[in-house]
Amino acid sequence: MFTRRDGALYLEGVRLSDLLTAGIPTPFYLYSLGQLRQNYRAYEDAVAGLPATVAFAIKSNHNPTLLSALREMGAGATVVSRHEVEHAIRLGFDPGKMLLHGNGKTRADLHAALSAGTLISADSEFDLVHIEEAARDQKTTAPVLLRVNPDIDPQVHPYISTGLLDSKFGMPGPVIDGLRLRGTLRTLRHVVVRGLHCHLGSTLRRVQPVADAMRVLLPLVERLRADGHPIDTVDLGGGLDIDYNRRGETLAGPVELVAAVRPDLLAARLRLWLEPGRSLSGNAGALIGRVIGVKHNGRRGFVIVDASMAQLIRPSLYNAYHHIELLEEAATGPPLRCDVVGPICESADFLGKDRDLPLPAEGDGVIVYDAGAYGFVMASRYNLNLLPAEYVVDGAAVRLSRRAETYEDFARTFVDREARSAAVIDREAPSAAVIKGRTGP
Ligand code: LLP
Repeated sequence: MFTRRDGALYLEGVRLSDLLTAGIPTPFYLYSLGQLRQNYRAYEDAVAGLPATVAFAIKSNHNPTLLSALREMGAGATVVSRHEVEHAIRLGFDPGKMLLHGNGKTRADLHAALSAGTLISADSEFDLVHIEEAARDQKTTAPVLLRVNPDIDPQVHPYISTGLLDSKFGMPGPVIDGLRLRGTLRTLRHVVVRGLHCHLGSTLRRVQPVADAMRVLLPLVERLRADGHPIDTVDLGGGLDIDYNRRGETLAGPVELVAAVRPDLLAARLRLWLEPGRSLSGNAGALIGRVIGVKHNGRRGFVIVDASMAQLIRPSLYNAYHHIELLEEAATGPPLRCDVVGPICESADFLGKDRDLPLPAEGDGVIVYDAGAYGFVMASRYNLNLLPAEYVVDGAAVRLSRRAETYEDFARTFVDREARSAAVIDREAPSAAVIKGRTGP
């Protein structure tokens, strides 16, 4: 969906530097509905012929315009907190296509999911008991998937690897197969075990680990069915990686993923759930900033931009690679080997290291690609950066989907009356920072 013509970068039909010329303040997030829809269709095609639910992991992107677009196409929602339950319900998602996850769900999370009528995953024995108690309190029955920890190494960054025995997620196969848990299941009156769930980790580049996990799940399906549980679903989580390098690498996609497990699913008469996050929203979003200045320290060049780890923490947190380019390349000078860094007072604040960019001028627009998953949702107000705006491109149209936060938004939750009514900076004269109406100390 991104194309370059005469040095200018376009997203769908929109020349991105025009947005800056039009005066949109940077940094901001920008999404492509076209890319998002294309990504969802790839899942639809992959699951054709199978009973299946594709439930977008909304933790990767909460933007209401994107969520509504996915919902309209038939997607469900994978949620991980009561507020994600509320968000998805408010945006019209079908609770029958929603699933609440979490290794530490609170009573409030469980009550929200039960009131909405979503499926719930049980991460541990205590979680099962909590679900039972919450469902009993609500005089209802909770449809549950047991989360299996299959002890399989997905070979991804340790922070986003979830299926190894020493990870905090799920219950090992032998525990589910064990007499104790099966005994507990027999005592539950408000829980119906409908299936098994497994999510190995994120940024999977091969599907073999998922096929291996299926081999762990199948005997458990048979065991639980033999115990009388109406098992009709296997949820294989999310996890597929995207081409962050933007070098056209071939990665396993939804077709390979589903093909690896289709015969098993059909043979065992199981409905497939998938919970993709990154592979739906990742390449549909970018972070746009402007160059503040260029400097050299020793032999290192730095391009300092107004986007930072406050808006996109993935490079700092996981050493993740996000491709970075200038919006307009034609007018710029010879290449510069540089680190692209933000203005935050911390050396961890970088967006890219050792990049070759055409020497930019101050004010030039910069794009950080593939920020549509775990971008805005992990943004912070560090250094009191207020949360940025989100724009959505659909064909040749761009619209503001969520405005940038203002200082007043930020201050709204202050309880201390003095802080709330204290100094107000005169916005008519921001450079002079005139303080008027100071009533506090
Ligand atoms: N299902 C479960 C149970 C999950 O825990 C996750 C992600 C997903 C589905 C979606 O996975 P995806 O398809 O997006 O890989 N902040 C990290 C990623 C954390 C992923 C956590 N779980 C990052 O920026 O890479």
